[in-house]
Amino acid sequence: KKRLAVGVVGSGNWGTAIAKICGENARAHGHHFRSKVRMWVFEEEIEHKGEKRKLTEVFNETHENVKYLPGVECPPNVIAVPDVREVARRSDVLVFVVPHQFIERVCDQMSGHLRPNAVGISCIKGVSVGKDGVRLFSDVISEKLGIYCGVLSGANVANEVAKEQFCETTIGYNPPNPVISAEQIVAVFDRPYFSVVSVDDVAGVALGGALKNIVAMAVGFADGLEWGGNTKSAIMRRGLLEMQKFATTFFDSEKGTMVEQSCGIADLVTSCLGGRNNRVAEAYVKSGKPIEVLEKELLGGQLLQGASTAKEVHEFLSTKDMVNEFPLFHSVYNICYENMDPKGLIQVLQPLKEES
Ligand code: NAD
Ligand code: 13P
Repeated sequence: KKRLAVGVVGSGNWGTAIAKICGENARAHGHHFRSKVRMWVFEEEIEHKGEKRKLTEVFNETHENVKYLPGVECPPNVIAVPDVREVARRSDVLVFVVPHQFIERVCDQMSGHLRPNAVGISCIKGVSVGKDGVRLFSDVISEKLGIYCGVLSGANVANEVAKEQFCETTIGYNPPNPVISAEQIVAVFDRPYFSVVSVDDVAGVALGGALKNIVAMAVGFADGLEWGGNTKSAIMRRGLLEMQKFATTFFDSEKGTMVEQSCGIADLVTSCLGGRNNRVAEAYVKSGKPIEVLEKELLGGQLLQGASTAKEVHEFLSTKDMVNEFPLFHSVYNICYENMDPKGLIQVLQPLKEES
């Protein structure tokens, strides 16, 4: 049987950690996978040991992504490649892991260069909103590239995964004609410290990861206001209900996914305990500086996903005249873009009509 070649499209904080995992599995399962894992790097010049160098060259010499995942050594079979078309041409399994704002442009560059039976797995947390309504990035990738695309998402803060601290993740993979089986896809990612569960509910997996970023910002605002654990848990509970309602109202997602799988409740909790969205939102309240300034100051080139997702979800819900049915999402949008006082989050936590 043909050995599959794995390629990673993206090399940020999570992109590099995922490439490390794929590289380890390509070596561990040599009968299934080709050893070389190509990782597309959006090329940039960095300052390294007092010299200006290309990020790809430094990575291929040191096996460390010194800008986005410093201090972590990747296996030497992970190769940084500056041309995304080369990754497209040479991969059977394409793992997409770029910040959501860039994926459409990256797909346009890859289009026409893919292997005929390639499949994709999207690790991107966000939703695409346009004139056709709201779409999953796995569907955007699928349409743009003419391939099936599943989703991987879970409680996976990249720096912790890269240090091989145990975590779980969820893969949504349900192709109509599986040329590459779910078991083969699981084998690309499953490690002793990275425990994969595969489910059919692709939309639920994608939406858990996208929408929890909005809730993590709400909890970050609460941290900034020094509200206690009880109040923050109330925000998380209401956030989880809005995540579940969004996924089951606008997509064919199962109610259980959000409350049972790592891509739902567990990702919500880890992100609210101190992900990037949470940290920036806390600093927003404490410093009064604009969110985009704090993103630059605190994240060293990594990108915030929660504020833009709150905006995209708000735009979509406005077209449906349903913003008031998602009061927590609406408030995060208002705090980020309409100068709402974060203290107003308390009003959002009044009992829901259907509960009282
Ligand atoms: P990141 O936040 O580290 O972003 C930096 C990356 O964006 C770099 O690779 C940079 O080269 C790239 N970039 C900058 N400008 C670009 C451009 N014009 N075109 C293309 N790429 C450009 O990225 P990340 O942490 O790897 O996040 C990718 C996705 O994974 C996001 O959707 C995120 O929500 C998700 N995710 C992140 C984590 C995490 O802990 N970091 C965990 C799980 C999922
Ligand atoms: P942040 O982008 O808020 O750090 O969240 C990372 C994540 O998705 C953890 O699963």
